[in-house]
Amino acid sequence: MQNTMVDRVTQDEHSGIKLESSYIFAEQLTAGFSDELPEIRMDELIEVILTVLDARDPYTFSHSLRVTEIAVLIARDMGLHEDRVRMIHEAAYLHDIGKVGIPDRVLNKAGRLTREEMRYMQAHPRIGYNVLSRLPLFKDIAEIVLCHHERWDGLGYPAGMQGEEIPLESRIIAVADAFDAITSDRPYRKGQSLEFGIQEIQRHREDQFGPRVVDHFMNISKKIPKVIDTLSDSTCPNAFDGHDDLMHSRRLL
Ligand SMILES: [Fe+2]
Ligand SMILES: [Fe+2]
Repeated sequence: MQNTMVDRVTQDEHSGIKLESSYIFAEQLTAGFSDELPEIRMDELIEVILTVLDARDPYTFSHSLRVTEIAVLIARDMGLHEDRVRMIHEAAYLHDIGKVGIPDRVLNKAGRLTREEMRYMQAHPRIGYNVLSRLPLFKDIAEIVLCHHERWDGLGYPAGMQGEEIPLESRIIAVADAFDAITSDRPYRKGQSLEFGIQEIQRHREDQFGPRVVDHFMNISKKIPKVIDTLSDSTCPNAFDGHDDLMHSRRLL
């Protein structure tokens, strides 16, 4: 297992926050795994990580399931190859895994974050990248996760990438992510209506998300209520029927 003291003191260049906790988490997660063990299945590993996420932060877990469903609908509407859809599926599940490294007082704070707290929150794509890129199996997914808060107009983070510089997979997840953040309930505020969420995505077509992904989001927007209903029923073992074996792995939980 690779890890060095140099790694442990690395700072996120955007936030300046030390990312020690992400390395410790990555160590724990990948303990006993190595590239020489090809029998490790990605879907099984994702299931383990999601189980950790659910225990640590149930909101982010359920948010990740909804984001995944919406991102896959957009990707399919775009006609992307199934291999790419699958990658989006996996990356969407794990897009906020870096939040395991954010202190609870920041993660669950009701009300506005201070500048310092915001810097912590904005470290989560980098923490997620640090965790996932430990395994070559997750290398491509790690890149997608790293870029899921970049914006079309270059005002996102961590790198301030612009337009098509940002991987398409990350841009798709960004739209699904923003829509769910707007429309879901938090302990400290009620989510907006689905209609409002759709309007907000459309309103930021040119600046935040880029026209292409937003247009496909609009195409699938009528399907979203059904998807969300199905997920809210997810204690039902058949809730994920019709999806691939990754979803099948969720049925086993
Ligand atoms: Fe995020
Ligand atoms: Fe998210």
